[in-house]
Amino acid sequence: MTDFYTMGIETSCDDSCVAILKNERELLVNLISSQIDIHTIFGGVVPEIASRKHLEAINPLIEKALADANLTYEDLDLISVTKGPGLMGSLLVGISAAKALSLATNTPMIGANHMKGHICANYLANKDLEPPFVTLVVSGGHTYLIKVKSYNEYEVVGKTRDDAAGESFDKVARKMGLGYPGGPKIDKLAKEGNPYAIDFPRVMLEKDSYDFSFSGLKTAVLNYMNQKAQKGEEIIKADVAASFQQAVVDVLVKKSLRLIDETGYDKFALSGGVAANSKLKEEFAKALKDRNVKLYYPDIKLCTDNAAMIAMAGYLDYKNGEISDNFMKVYPNLEI
Ligand code: KG4
Ligand code: ZN
Repeated sequence: MTDFYTMGIETSCDDSCVAILKNERELLVNLISSQIDIHTIFGGVVPEIASRKHLEAINPLIEKALADANLTYEDLDLISVTKGPGLMGSLLVGISAAKALSLATNTPMIGANHMKGHICANYLANKDLEPPFVTLVVSGGHTYLIKVKSYNEYEVVGKTRDDAAGESFDKVARKMGLGYPGGPKIDKLAKEGNPYAIDFPRVMLEKDSYDFSFSGLKTAVLNYMNQKAQKGEEIIKADVAASFQQAVVDVLVKKSLRLIDETGYDKFALSGGVAANSKLKEEFAKALKDRNVKLYYPDIKLCTDNAAMIAMAGYLDYKNGEISDNFMKVYPNLEI
């Protein structure tokens, strides 16, 4: 059997990424050109700048990926590109590059769902992982609790009603003057703080709900900081970071465990940028050990945005008989 090569292209937010996947799960190249330095100056992603930077980066990245994998354009069997969700202008750059490449090389193209990509990153990092399993997808823009019933069947059981988990990390970090992106900064600072110093709210919503709400917690942290500042009292930032993080983690763990127990599945996977959070991984590891449920998560480079996960997700869609054509659009608000 000849080898099958999938090129992944991801430009949905502020990282330009190209990867090459060999056959099922063998990752050959995973290139990421980060724009963090420029967006940090503005305290968050500036969409106009992001799309312009993607435009500069994408073609050289495609060429470098092929060179690093020791392949030529003719070797590619599939091009998988993020079609959504994400920033319209950023997505357009990746899609245009993929269409041009597909036309010029006569290679099939598939539009992949970025959020499914985050879940699929787990297949690359954990070669033994197979559905069914429960996954918690926690990224900068989304929070989903999902039953992955098969490689192509996802049942969304819960999602956020307001802020995403990562978004709350970013907003709290911004208020604390820690910079962008906030998640890794809070994760680091929290290690020096007391997670029970401040009793921030754990919003669980209705008794049987798997949905999330993080905007109340974010407001509680901002109010706490404002009140302390007004009274001229010292703010112990490490305690704020640790207490906020513990509140987020408590809610995520509690709801996930309820779903794991309900399904009886013996596998649980963390997906998305916030899956890089050390406290989240630690608390899940503790809770799942007693239940005999195996915990999976991607390593840090595969947690945050990358094109390897897009190659993986597109490959699975393609094997399921799906295909896109050159009229493919972008879907900034695409759901799972
Ligand atoms: O999945 P991702 O790379 O991009 C989106 O699709 O949104 O997620 C980015 C999010 C940001 O909100 C970032 O602050 C958060 O992931 N993040 C973390 C950590 N590393 C990244 N949040 C908490 N702890 C971390 N260590
Ligand atoms: Zn993402």
